[in-house]
Amino acid sequence: MERFAITGAAGFIGSHLAERLIKDGHEVIAIDNFDPFYSRSIKERNLKNLIGNPNFHMFNIDVRSEELMLTLANTNVDTIIHLSARAGVRPSFLLPQSYIHHDVEATVNILESCRKLDITRLIFGSSSSVYGNMPELPYSEDIKLDKPISPYAAAKLSCELFNYVFHSQYGINITNLRFFTVYGPRQRPEMGIHKFTRQIWNNELIHMYGDGSSSRDYTYIDDIIEGLTLAIKKVDGYHTFNLGNSQPVLLKELIETIGRALDMQYKFEIHLMQPGDVDHTLADISKARKELNYNPSTSIKEGIDEFVKWFRQMNRR
Ligand SMILES: NC(=O)c1ccc[n+]([C@@H]2O[C@H](COP(=O)([O-])OP(=O)(O)OC[C@H]3O[C@@H](n4cnc5c(N)ncnc54)[C@H](O)[C@@H]3O)[C@@H](O)[C@H]2O)c1
Repeated sequence: MERFAITGAAGFIGSHLAERLIKDGHEVIAIDNFDPFYSRSIKERNLKNLIGNPNFHMFNIDVRSEELMLTLANTNVDTIIHLSARAGVRPSFLLPQSYIHHDVEATVNILESCRKLDITRLIFGSSSSVYGNMPELPYSEDIKLDKPISPYAAAKLSCELFNYVFHSQYGINITNLRFFTVYGPRQRPEMGIHKFTRQIWNNELIHMYGDGSSSRDYTYIDDIIEGLTLAIKKVDGYHTFNLGNSQPVLLKELIETIGRALDMQYKFEIHLMQPGDVDHTLADISKARKELNYNPSTSIKEGIDEFVKWFRQMNRR
């Protein structure tokens, strides 16, 4: 049995990871301040299967606070999986400073805690948005990155740079995992798949940004959790991996797939693309396949069917 600290453990990805690590026989130190970016009750519901488990220990603290180091010291962890953040591209234009606080400042506080407490292993939840609007697809980890197009992307890229500083100067073993649009049960309510599903379900007009020809590499939560658990087993040195599905899905196809899964008609209205939205994302996952044995297997249809099944359970009428 190992003991892992997960920051952002009450969130979408963090709560799934906590469940998986407990299922695999480990102990989880869960850290989350129930940030008001979205409703606390949703985050409490995410933890429903975990609260009361003797191997799950919840700490309601801000990762930027001094309490973080005390908690990590008292619980004697040697691996941190850092997933807490203000997430989301579009909201980052409304409150750019909060992305400096909850992403960059938070990450530096974690790195400082690792240094002072001699915690030697850190996994960082990065994002495909660090690639910006690069024309050459798919995105591979060795592309030189200096053109983020949203405050969120700039914050994530800054975190990766700080991670490198702390690896090179203090020898902390760090793996950055760049997630490509993650979806599935518990997905954050403001994310596209969740929003389109809610709009169709409520017979609301769908606001589609662009003509539907933009595309994303959507990655099902079970595949991301598998990738995370594979990466956790070998945090050694400094590495960066894309975790995507490597299958592009057009926006208009995505909306059609959701409509079919709900078996409902819908109407949409076309709007201009939003600032920060990239045209396409597509992960080159050959490095993760080779070095981590990462092998995502969920098609968009299977994943959307699972998401819609969960959505129906949460919104019975
Ligand atoms: N979901 C995706 O598609 C996606 C894609 C790329 C990267 N990511 C990254 O993966 C990570 C998890 O994403 P998610 O979708 O689960 O987001 P989420 O918002 O559901 O989870 C993040 C959690 O962090 C907590 N948090 C925020 N600031 C905090 C602070 N200062 N102290 C303590 N806790 C704090 C929040 O309360 C929340 O529960 C984030 O770092 C995000 O940027 C997610």
